Amino acid sequence: SKGNHRHYMLKEIYEQPVVVAQTLRSYLRRMDDQLALPVPDFDLDAIRRVTIVACGTSYYAGMVAKYWFEQFARVPVDIDVASEFRYRAPVMADGGLMIVISQSGETADTLAALRHAKAEGQKIAAVVNVPTSSMAREADLLLPTHAGPEIGVASTKAFTCQLAVLAAFAANLARAKGRLNPGEERELVRHLAEAPAALNAALAYDETIEAMADLVAHARDVLYLGRGPDYPLALEGALKLKEISYIHAEGYAAGEMKHGPIALIDDTVPVIVLAPSGPLFEKTVSNMQEVQARGGKVVLISDYDGVQAAGEGCIATITMPKVHPLIAPMVYAVPVQLLAYHVALAKGTDVDQPRNLAKSVTVE
Ligand code: F6R
Repeated sequence: SKGNHRHYMLKEIYEQPVVVAQTLRSYLRRMDDQLALPVPDFDLDAIRRVTIVACGTSYYAGMVAKYWFEQFARVPVDIDVASEFRYRAPVMADGGLMIVISQSGETADTLAALRHAKAEGQKIAAVVNVPTSSMAREADLLLPTHAGPEIGVASTKAFTCQLAVLAAFAANLARAKGRLNPGEERELVRHLAEAPAALNAALAYDETIEAMADLVAHARDVLYLGRGPDYPLALEGALKLKEISYIHAEGYAAGEMKHGPIALIDDTVPVIVLAPSGPLFEKTVSNMQEVQARGGKVVLISDYDGVQAAGEGCIATITMPKVHPLIAPMVYAVPVQLLAYHVALAKGTDVDQPRNLAKSVTVE
């Protein structure tokens, strides 16, 4: 049931601190801050290459994970949307691991990619939310998310749980390959374990975001910008807005703006900038200033330091809790979900059952 929430989507957004904690409990051991992942029946340390395949929001979780696998495990990662992966001639050498990511575990293109890779001798890990699904059954290594049933067509809690699992798995692969010493492992585990509280803190901005929904609800086009692991969040923000409010939105890597899309900027196009303070902050802010110099109306989502440093000249700012860069993609998912939700409410669309969309895409 929706409990006292108006929509399943809102209920599921609010469940995130609890379901991410629930998910992390089966991947982390807090008594000594160690990773505690299921042990595969193949050698993790022999994995030389990772291929990630998924669709939609699950694909964006994979894009974030690519940063983690490369950064922690130093393993090259290929990523593709499942419908494209199948129809090129992907090179799948020995020592390859395919990771499929899917809430339903039944998405037709992703399942077909899994079967293709398996036939080519790849090991398969599946990050899925439905433990009885086809992907769960056919994988060599099942990495379940414990988000509980997701009813809203727009994926929310499944996404943040996928990120939690993928961060733990990337760290686990790093450990297996001798690239994570015990001190570093404890530190990573502690940062990950901070995610539920940070998600909870992010939910406190619900009313702030509701109050600014009007800034976006009347727009015809909206841009989302991010960099590094927060670039996929820009794509996810744009997808959420398109899906449930039917406003045209695009996500861009902040540094790509000057290569074309900046031509779209005028004072009718809200630009949502996702920029937690950290190593990439300055770069993103300079892209944001290029937008402002052309009359663009910027909504900055950052933390206290970021808003202090760059909030001036923005039409609105959201001051998020300051979090470790590892969990920023999880925490920044909350404001983009809430923004899409409140804009859709302002427009009066059917949030839980958007037109033309199905919860599980079992046709190709
Ligand atoms: C977006 C959304 C879709 C799904 C996609 C993959 O809000 O829900 O983009 O993420 O259809 O579905 P799963 O994860 O079930 O494979």
